[in-house]
Amino acid sequence: MGLGIADITDERRVELDTPEDTSRLAAAVGARLRAGDLLLLSGPIGAGKSHFARAVIQSRLASDGRPVEDVPSPTFTLVQTYALDGVEIWHADLYRLTHPDEVEELGLIDAFDNAICLVEWPDRLGPLIPPQAIGLTFDVTGDTQRSLTLTGPATRLAALLQEDQT
Ligand SMILES: Nc1ncnc2c1ncn2[C@@H]1O[C@H](COP(=O)(O)OP(=O)(O)O)[C@@H](O)[C@H]1O
Ligand SMILES: [Mg+2]
Repeated sequence: MGLGIADITDERRVELDTPEDTSRLAAAVGARLRAGDLLLLSGPIGAGKSHFARAVIQSRLASDGRPVEDVPSPTFTLVQTYALDGVEIWHADLYRLTHPDEVEELGLIDAFDNAICLVEWPDRLGPLIPPQAIGLTFDVTGDTQRSLTLTGPATRLAALLQEDQT
């Protein structure tokens, strides 16, 4: 199996000056997400991982004309799922994962292939992280400022960020 150009890992940095900037980016990226997309949300507590996930979920529910629910942080349930037209969003917070076997028990391995997955504390997945995953790392640079680094397969990254493909 050869490595095509599409497999090259690329990186982008986006400065998010306010929570609204983060919501706007999440809605724009979220609109492009499809089954099999996996976003790994990293960064310290309070960095904005859940804020980003919430904005993705709420904007996709709204664009499918579904009631916009509260999106609680899945701190204790580990996983919350949301039904869209034809695809589910899985929002996971693995901070309290006690054993790697739980990842399989939660159904996450199947969800990585079949759903849109947003995973906080993905380091808990260890070797279970699939190669197509897109990494989003939030750095706190001020009270309302966050610096976001996105990494992943070049083609998918460009598509999610709606960069000109010509
Ligand atoms: N630019 C920003 N982007 C996202 N959140 C921000 C930003 N500036 C301030 N915040 C605040 O930081 C907090 C992030 O909390 P949360 O998303 O729960 O963090 P995490 O899930 O990473 O622990 C929220 O209170 C949010 O309003
Ligand atoms: Mg969180």
